[in-house]
This record gives sequence, C-alpha cells and structure tokens, in this order.
Amino acid sequence: MTALITGATEGIGRAFALALAAESHTVTAVARTERHLRALMTELGPGGSDGEHDYLVADLAIPDGVRTVAAALTAAPYDLLINNAGLACPGPFADTPLDQVLPALRLNCEAVVDLAHAFLATARHGAALVNVASTLAFVPQPGQAVYSATKAFVASFSEALWYEPRPRGVYVMALCPGPTSTRPGLHADLPAALVLTPEAVVAVALTALRRRRRPTVVPGRANAFLAAVSRYLPRTTSLSLLADRPGPIAAQGPV
Ligand SMILES: NC(=O)c1ccc[n+]([C@@H]2O[C@H](COP(=O)([O-])OP(=O)(O)OC[C@H]3O[C@@H](n4cnc5c(N)ncnc54)[C@H](OP(=O)(O)O)[C@@H]3O)[C@@H](O)[C@H]2O)c1
Repeated sequence: MTALITGATEGIGRAFALALAAESHTVTAVARTERHLRALMTELGPGGSDGEHDYLVADLAIPDGVRTVAAALTAAPYDLLINNAGLACPGPFADTPLDQVLPALRLNCEAVVDLAHAFLATARHGAALVNVASTLAFVPQPGQAVYSATKAFVASFSEALWYEPRPRGVYVMALCPGPTSTRPGLHADLPAALVLTPEAVVAVALTALRRRRRPTVVPGRANAFLAAVSRYLPRTTSLSLLADRPGPIAAQGPV
C-alpha cells in the first residue's frame, strides 16, 4: 500500500506518516524543508510493503510545487492521499497583508483541488483520499476569517467528492480536527476535553478509513458534539462565542 502525505514532517501529517509506516504503508512525504524530510525518513525506517519510503521537496503554495506533487500522483497511482498541509493567517482581516492571506488560499484550497484531481484521475478500486479541514469549517472564527473559509471549502468539496467516485470503490473523507496540540502550549487556553494530540486525531481518522462509512469525521467526542450543536445555534451566538475565545487570537494556531 502506498500513501502520499502533504505536510508530513510536523503535527498531524507527521503522526499520519508514523502510523501508516507502522501499518506497512510505503510513505511519500511532502514538505518544503528537506532536512526535516530526511529526519522523517530515518524515523520511518526502511520501507513498507511497496518499497522504500521517499520524499518530495515542494512548496504547495506555488504552482511549481503543486505540479511536482501532481506529477508524482499521476505517474504512479497511490492507494492513499492525505491532503494535510495547511496554513493559518490569524489576525483581523483588514490588518493582514494580502501577501500573507493569498498563500493560505493557495495551499489550503488550490493545492487540495489540484492534488485531489491528479489522485482521483488514476485512483484504483480501494483507494482513499483524506482532505484535512477543521471544525472551523462549521463555524467561522473572527480573527481567522480566511482560514475558516478555506476549511469550509475543503469540507464542502470533500463531501461532494465522497459521493462521486463511490461507484469506483474510492473513498473520500473530510477530516475535521478540533484544536490539536501540534506544538507545546498551542491551545493551552482551551478546556483539555477539546484538545487532542495529533496521534489521537490520526487514530480516529485511520479507524474511519477502515470503516469507510461517513464523508465527514470529527475526532474527539467533545468536538463532534460541538460541531453537531453548532448547526442549531444562531450564527450570531456562535460567532460571539468564538470571537470571545480567551487568549490573543494572533498568537493562536489553527483549529
Ligand atoms: N493544529 C491544529 O490545531 C489543527 C486543527 C484543525 C485542523 N488543522 C489542520 O491540520 C493540518 C495540519 O496542521 P498541523 O497543525 O499539524 O500543521 P503543522 O504542525 O504546522 O505542520 C505543517 C506541515 O506542513 C508543511 N507545510 C507548511 N507549508 C507548506 C507548503 N507551503 N508546502 C508544503 N508543505 C508545507 C510543514 O513543513 P515545511 O514547513 O517544511 O513545509 C509541516 O510539515 C492543516 O491543514 C491544519 O489546517 C490543524
């Protein structure tokens, strides 16, 4: 089994790489920083059922980087694509320079679409695509306007895709993690029940991947409950709750 994971050197992507390698997948890791990719290769060990683990150095916020990875997906059909790399651009929208906002749009949306297209064009029966969104897909957070909107795009896009290739036996998942402790201190202001480790997020995703039942997966009971309830709250209430989240929004990572 072969798996290509974007943003594989840190956080949720790294946890996917380690878990899949432990299950004998042959992993292709994608990120911009080659020394981190090399270090990951050492950690992953010799290889999986389809040969040695490998990596691609690519910046998925620029067309060249996306082309490199799309070409790899087209050249050799993969069993699994994890579209994980994502970027937050926190801060009040009007005060955030566009050159910080637009790379997030390209990485979080355009690259996901490009790579999904390359993957699904050649996907064989049994293949699966996981697009990593966020619980902010369900309710946008003031101070994370563009990030939240990109994640709503990813979730919506993935749900429609879940339906389309089903007759071919290809499964598509929108993985919507809540706050995830990908760095020390990140989300330390939130109740512990809401914050999962990257390993816990990936364990839920891999279980759902084996079952292949639902288009949308929200790891963690508290986050799944809040995601469900948020559909019934007046929008003004949920926006106020998220805007009043303690701690300086600009210092917080993605949720
Ligand atoms: N952490 C959370 O609380 C949380 C919650 C919900 C959803 N998510 C989503 O989960 C995904 C992973 O988040 P994370 O927090 O685990 O990420 P992270 O720890 O910040 O890791 C980001 C990974 O993506 C790579 N990357 C960043 N920019 C890239 C680019 N332009 N091209 C290629 N690779 C790039 C990084 O390596 P290089 O820097 O070397 O490129 C790294 O491997 C994202 O889509 C995020 O939105 C996160």
